[in-house]
This record gives sequence, structure tokens and C-alpha cells, in this order.
Amino acid sequence: MIPTPTDLVVRNARVLDPGAGLDGVMDVRLAEGEIAEVGENLRGTRELDADGLHLFPGFVDVHAHWRTPGREDEETIESGSASAAAGGFTGVVMMPNTDPIVDSPVIVSGLARKIERESRVRARISAALHVGLKGERLTEMRLLKEAGAFCVSDDGLGTASAGVLRNGMTYARSAGLPLILHCEDHTLATGVVHDGVAASLAGIPGSPASAEDVATATALILAAETGARTHITHVSTALSAALVAFFKDRADVTADTTPHHLTLTDDLISTLEGLYRVNPPLRPDADRDGVGEALRAGVLDFVATDHAPHASEEKELPLEEAAPGFLGHETAFAALHTELVLAGKITLPRLIEAMSCAPGRWMGEGGSLAVGEPADLTLVDLSERWTVDSGTMISRSSNSPYLGRTLTGRVVGTIVGGELVHDRTGAQLGTRG
Ligand code: DOR
Repeated sequence: MIPTPTDLVVRNARVLDPGAGLDGVMDVRLAEGEIAEVGENLRGTRELDADGLHLFPGFVDVHAHWRTPGREDEETIESGSASAAAGGFTGVVMMPNTDPIVDSPVIVSGLARKIERESRVRARISAALHVGLKGERLTEMRLLKEAGAFCVSDDGLGTASAGVLRNGMTYARSAGLPLILHCEDHTLATGVVHDGVAASLAGIPGSPASAEDVATATALILAAETGARTHITHVSTALSAALVAFFKDRADVTADTTPHHLTLTDDLISTLEGLYRVNPPLRPDADRDGVGEALRAGVLDFVATDHAPHASEEKELPLEEAAPGFLGHETAFAALHTELVLAGKITLPRLIEAMSCAPGRWMGEGGSLAVGEPADLTLVDLSERWTVDSGTMISRSSNSPYLGRTLTGRVVGTIVGGELVHDRTGAQLGTRG
């Protein structure tokens, strides 16, 4: 086949895509923004030698806060997408809890234009389910969809009541928009950390796990009843994961958990540092292990980071006063590879399924190296050890809970639509003239 002028062959990588059934040292040819060929001894006008690297379908993160509009000091579409690319993510969903809230068509279309100009990765917009995220008046979902919204969510807050949520699900379904649900019952969630031994020892008010579990049960029951396409995000308790398992065949439901809920626990509360405040809160070992097992078993379909940048003046505070949230994009793969794969808790193929294939299927784009799919991929050095350092973060913020930790496995190249959008390969792209 005559190579097109724009084609790129990534050579000799260890290719792994459980969804497409690929596992072995191969070449991948990218042309016109798509995966053109996967095989041996492929040639292209440009070549990238990836000997010794792993090549995965690009990671997809359905939960990110890029703080635009309103808090561009914390993140912008440019910096958020560069941070995502540095973490190997080629597709992202942006959450609507911005200032102003993404609850009107004009804000959605403005964001869509900004994404077009600034984003290095594919970015989709989640609009709000309720005006102002207030759980009162529904947004105009059909108009939001026409303006470019991909889904709806009141993320950052739980929905005020079961009746309000049921109504929202019915309208979202008729507008053809999936929902991403942050499950939190605010009548129970009155504290700032998980209500357990660590909270008691530290003397910090806790919220019981039921604040999440009750809301998750409500959401699942209503999803089953309304038939709405429902994604439960940042599942952090073993019981919520078990509830998802029960409803898996009874509702159109998927669920994710985060790298931090899979790798960290509430013993970090003893530091009293605001850095470790997050919502839902870090939980005890039994929940961390429960969600890990649910991810391994496929009950939790995939991982999403809940990338939540905050300015240092909002995080360098006592726990009670700090804003909740962690950076996620740049450390997700390395943290999960180190803490789950190398620790023997899940396999590398399952991790790639959970970071690429399954969220790609949910988005309807990306997460696959099958011929004809978008040329979105991630190159990783599985043996590189690196220490997470605020000075080298690409995000505008530095509130990573992994600061100072040494992780194994690092993204060295990210390709979106056939173009390198993050490059630490150190290789000059060889051009065959
Ligand atoms: O910790 C969190 N931070 N949880 C959320 O649900 C929202 C997020 C944010 O926007 O900072």
C-alpha cells in the first residue's frame, strides 16, 4: 500500500488492546487520523521507534474539572488537556460545576468553540442536569444537546431528592443524554472526611458511608425504573459497588471508581492536611479493597480520575477548611500500575480495559486500536520509576495526593488523531524521504 503523506508508523511497540484482542510486539500505522494497519514490518512516511515501550489505546477519562469558565487560575482547557495528554488520556469529559455553571446552551457552545481552539485531546462537555446545580429547575436538555453537550451531571453535588432525580432521569432519557451521577445524600453528608476510626482519632467531623450508599441505591432504583442511561461516578464504598452489581442486569447502568479510592485510605487524615480532603472522602482499607475487587471483576466498569485542580490557597489549609479534590490525570496510570498491577491485584490487560476500552465504549469514541478507529494511543515505559513532584506538574495546580511518592510506569507519548500531543519519547520522528 502506498503510504499517505501524513501517515505515521509506530514501530516495535508491545501492543496491548484487550478489546481488539491485540497482545504482542507489532507495528501500528496511523493515517488520516485513523488506525490504518496493525502488523509486522509496516512502513510509513514518518516512523517512531517504540522498541521497549508498551502501546495502549488512548486512555479515556469521563470525569475532569478543567475549571473553565471561571477559575482559569486553577486550570484552563489548554492546561487541562495538556495535563490529560501527559497522563496518556486522549479523551475527556469536562464537568459543569464551573462559574458560571454550564447550564445554558450559550455556555455549552462557547465551551465547544474553546475546546476546538485549545484542547490537545478530544473533550466532551457535560452540561448541568439542573439550573445552577440546585436540584430544582431542569435544564433545557434538548437545547443543550444541540449546542454540543454530550451528557448531563450535577457533579460536585448530590441531587436534592429522589423525586427530583427521577424527573431529571426521565427528561434526560427523552433528550437522549446519558447522566453522570455524583451520589451523595446531603442530609447524611454533614462532615468533611469519612466517619470512621481515623476521623475519631483526628477529631475531625466525619460523614458516614451511608451518605454515598443511600444515594447510590436511590439512583440505581430510579435508573431501573426510568430506563435512563446512567453512569455512577467515583464509587468509593464496598457497599455501593455491591449495589451496582445487583443492578447491572436490571438497569442501563455503568460505574467508575477513581485512582485515589483504589490506592489511598483515610489513614491520611492523621496528617490533618487539607491536601487530602476529597469528595467522596478517602475510605478505610475494606472499602479500598472492595472497590478494587469490583474493578477487577468488572462490576465497576472503568476508572475515571475526578481531576479536580485547586489553587494552593484552597488546599494549604486545615482539613476542615480545604476545598475537596485531587489532581488526577498525570498520575492515574502510574498509581494504578504501581499499586494494583505490580501488587498483583489486577492484571495489566484489565487495567487497560478499565482505562481505555470500557470508557471509550461509553464515550462512543476512542479506546480501541481496531483498524478504522480514531488514531488515539498512549505509549508507556512500564519500567520507569519517577517521583511525583509539584514542580513538574503540567496542570496549573499541584494538589496531587501522590506528591513525593515514587511510582513505576510512565506515559512517554500520547497521540490523538495521529498526531503526537505529548512527547517524552526523546526520539526524533524519522522521516523517510
Ligand atoms: O473532591 C471533589 N472535587 N469532588 C467533587 O465531586 C467535585 C470536585 C471539585 O469540583 O473540586
